Amino acid sequence: MSHGHEEHLWIPESDLEGMSVDTLSVRAGQIRTGQLEHSDAIFPTSSFVYGSAAQAAARFGGEEAGNIYSRFTNPTVQAFEGRIAAMEGGEKAVATASGMAAILSTCMSLLKTGDHVICSRGVFGTTNVLFQKYMARFGVETTFVSLTDVSAWQAAVRPETKMLFIETPSNPLCEVADMDALSSLAHANDALFVVDNCFCTPILQRPLEHGADLVIHSATKYLDGQGRCVGGVVVGPAKYLDEVYGFIRSAGPTMSPFNAWVFQKGLETLPIRMRAHCDNALELAKWLETQPSVEKVFYAGLESHPQHELAKKQQSGFGGMVSFTVKGGREQAWRFIDGTRMISITANLGDVKTTITHPATTTHGRLAPEDKVQAGITENLIRLSVGIEAIDDLKTDLARGFQALED
Ligand SMILES: Cc1ncc(COP(=O)(O)O)c(C=O)c1O
Repeated sequence: MSHGHEEHLWIPESDLEGMSVDTLSVRAGQIRTGQLEHSDAIFPTSSFVYGSAAQAAARFGGEEAGNIYSRFTNPTVQAFEGRIAAMEGGEKAVATASGMAAILSTCMSLLKTGDHVICSRGVFGTTNVLFQKYMARFGVETTFVSLTDVSAWQAAVRPETKMLFIETPSNPLCEVADMDALSSLAHANDALFVVDNCFCTPILQRPLEHGADLVIHSATKYLDGQGRCVGGVVVGPAKYLDEVYGFIRSAGPTMSPFNAWVFQKGLETLPIRMRAHCDNALELAKWLETQPSVEKVFYAGLESHPQHELAKKQQSGFGGMVSFTVKGGREQAWRFIDGTRMISITANLGDVKTTITHPATTTHGRLAPEDKVQAGITENLIRLSVGIEAIDDLKTDLARGFQALED
């Protein structure tokens, strides 16, 4: 066969079937134009042209497939959606303007007034606010329960329960949910089981294989991996994703083509980045456990973690997020954070650069005091998103934090 055969230029997705997530992260979802570019093209256009008024009418009328307007579809955004859907093992994906827009769009398209949601307590602070403040205004009530107590989930189920929502591992305490148990409970009650897979990404965990109906990402985190863009995505079967798509097409929280391109390129390095994050995080978690000023380390890779065995079963790695408490309160936590020099004080996570946060006054600062207590967000808690710097340099910088506690 000579070079130039079309089948080598436009690889059908079916040729990638059964391939590993490492391969899919590099190859799935590519849309190659007639220019035969090797790297993915970017389509920064708000609308698309037609050859005739009749063709425009056919597109708008749905008789002819194709792009119309980038609030609806855009080839760069579709390329990202195709890749992440393949990696999560989902039929379809819909990209959104942010991770929160992904959660909101899921709720707006699949819930209605009178429905009830059960959500784990240890979720990202803004997710809690979205359910508790905003969804409640539209008559969707949410009960918050402990992520790890399956009997509490069972007890919270009502006839109107339509969605069980979790993050696993949770932010910031790295608790791990039993996804098989919660998906069975959801399905026995005709409810959707929705998993925010932000911490693990499909490299370490594929919730759809554990009965999740929908997977949500803040693409802002590991999918980008270099802290450049805000975005989100919902993945799952077409029967739900078509509803989510209908909502974003009408309401407008779509992903921009530029951001989609950044995320598409980010996915290509996700497998090797995740392994580097996991290696550094495990080593640091073990090291932190030996420090005299540390009270407790929260990381599912530690044998001391209550869901260590479950995490080993569900995940192929323990992720890059490590939280710990220092002896003392807010003053000591802040002194530690300010004592580090290289690590960035910022609330974002999933970056190749290590970041450090005080959840009680930043990411979870808007929670009511009693909700903070229940979610375990104490004043002496520090969250590290462990990057891919050399492990010894990370220890050197954290040692400056410990030194600041002694001074
Ligand atoms: C676990 C998790 N889910 C969702 C979000 C929200 O994502 P975004 O900031 O992209 O809206 C975040 C943000 O930090 C998060 O940590």
